Amino acid sequence: MPQLKVLISREQIAQRVAEMGAEITRDFSGESVIFVGVLKGASIFLSDLARHVDLDAAFDFIGVASYGNRPSPAQELISGWDSTGEVRLTKDVDQSMRDKNVILVEDILDTGLTLTYLTKVLLAHQPKALRVATLLDKPSRRKQPMEANYVGFRIPDEFVVGYGLDYAERYRNLPDICVLPRQA
Ligand code: IMP
Ligand code: MG
Repeated sequence: MPQLKVLISREQIAQRVAEMGAEITRDFSGESVIFVGVLKGASIFLSDLARHVDLDAAFDFIGVASYGNRPSPAQELISGWDSTGEVRLTKDVDQSMRDKNVILVEDILDTGLTLTYLTKVLLAHQPKALRVATLLDKPSRRKQPMEANYVGFRIPDEFVVGYGLDYAERYRNLPDICVLPRQA
């Protein structure tokens, strides 16, 4: 494995995720919530976040893929990551979201296309409340005006991996969030 530069350490992640969990606990005090994780990148964040939320809770997962003119991963590294394609659902939620407090959990908010699409999909289920929690936010890359309710860290326009985030399905198991150099 190449040595990658750490952008956010495991200790910083743990502290911030605990704070986010405490915030969600306060905001939904006395109520139940459903965490809906976006596969696969949000799985590690969801499992840590949920253990810092002291509420009656359920888990669900939703899957998306981009299609259209998304470049190959190799091109993405050269020309910069660009989620230009449309988004489609590859796995819907398993349980009813109707009248539930839904917390959509994502690894990173980049152009905003994925979360714009997913919030529409989930709102069609008529939840009682829908909130978005993202570990990372790259606000400079936005193509759709999307903001999350809970944001772990705002980061510059770097391609990052680790703690669930991948490059071509690799690096998800790194405990820290690291920068993948765009030019190898
Ligand atoms: P958006 O639709 O452009 O907001 O893209 C969000 C999705 O793009 C995330 O769920 C990630 O899968 C992927 N993504 C965006 N930036 C990065 C990155 O820096 N590293 C890994 N995946 C990323
Ligand atoms: Mg993702």
